[in-house]
Amino acid sequence: MMAANVSLAAPPPFDAERVRGDFPILDTMVNGRPLVYLDSAASAQRPLAVLRAVEDYETHSHANVHRGVHALSQAATAAYEGARERVRRFINARSAREIIFVRGTTEAINLIAQAWGRPRLRAGDQILISALEHHANIVPWQMLCEQTGCTLKVAPINRRGELQLEEFLKLLGPHTRLVAVAHVSNALGTVLPLKPLIEAAHAHGALVLIDGAQAVPHARLDVRALGADFYAFSGHKLYGPTGIGVLYGREELLTAMPPWQGGGDMILTVSFEKTTYNELPWKFEAGTPNMSGAVGLAAAMDYLEGLGVEAIAAHEQRLLQLATAELARLPDIEIIGTAAHKASVLSFTMKGVHPHDLGTILDAEGVAVRTGHHCAMPVMTFFGLPATARASFGCYNTERDVASLVQALGKAREVLA
Ligand code: ALA
Repeated sequence: MMAANVSLAAPPPFDAERVRGDFPILDTMVNGRPLVYLDSAASAQRPLAVLRAVEDYETHSHANVHRGVHALSQAATAAYEGARERVRRFINARSAREIIFVRGTTEAINLIAQAWGRPRLRAGDQILISALEHHANIVPWQMLCEQTGCTLKVAPINRRGELQLEEFLKLLGPHTRLVAVAHVSNALGTVLPLKPLIEAAHAHGALVLIDGAQAVPHARLDVRALGADFYAFSGHKLYGPTGIGVLYGREELLTAMPPWQGGGDMILTVSFEKTTYNELPWKFEAGTPNMSGAVGLAAAMDYLEGLGVEAIAAHEQRLLQLATAELARLPDIEIIGTAAHKASVLSFTMKGVHPHDLGTILDAEGVAVRTGHHCAMPVMTFFGLPATARASFGCYNTERDVASLVQALGKAREVLA
């Protein structure tokens, strides 16, 4: 799991400067200054290995999948299904039938809401989420409540931005059918205590869906050890392409669910009288899928395992601790989200300055951070803020990047405060 207390004295187990060489975009100049990219939580940059894998697929193997006996169609099918097997190994799923390719985390959650929730839930049933959720793990459930009459419950957080576990446990009950929570908060970086939460949900007979978009880039995921029923994540936060993501689901649950979207590839037979559906995983993949995206995602997984997922996590934790200590020293900066267990996301505000203005000044210094509500408006409301600035660290960030952020904040203070 994410190390919350990596020793600052331990030498870095990998060379982030060398890693930077794998990411050509990091050589970009922004406003006449070298780019300092601190927005990987929104979208991570892609290493050459991913760019080349996509180019190689497009150049040598592209055709439609599952549909042709010709050589290129078979090559494309092998590449696409090979990528699925790569994902299975990366997250230690039991079977490739449990790996559904989707556009991203948002689509995965909507799929579960509509294919699992809509046929099953009704008035009296409850879905339990946390107050830390991204809109993608709120709105699909609100839509499902409108459609079925079920009710959405929200477990509160404390001022550090941590889930109040005891309150969460009180909200679990015989009517809870599904618990849907983030593994890591995108707005604050909080790591949620999934083990006790999943065990408690299962003890009440509820299923558990985890939004893992912000977790998979920062920690080794083993879906069997974790024990969640569904787990969703996106390729583009994992140093892979956009438009590709993964829904993991336990096979027996996916088997019992009807398809979500209808179309090509998700059927076995079609007649006007009766259509029969394909097997897993294709039952949930209507239409031509994103083959090059899947290939790129598999290459990203190869790349990350080559660097060492645990080594990346430890490196990011060192940067998080360094940046937290440095920003805590600045009198006009307030860090928003001070949970004991965090991934490498640092949200903050500058006294008297709107985060958008702050982001603009930082950009002028070449420093890219995200500013806004981070698609988590309820979190902002909880802290009484319209927005925050958010720096997030990935495998290619260095201590120099932290120093550049601190320097740019000094410049912003001179200009704005
Ligand atoms: N969900 C993405 C973020 O947190 C876009 O920035």
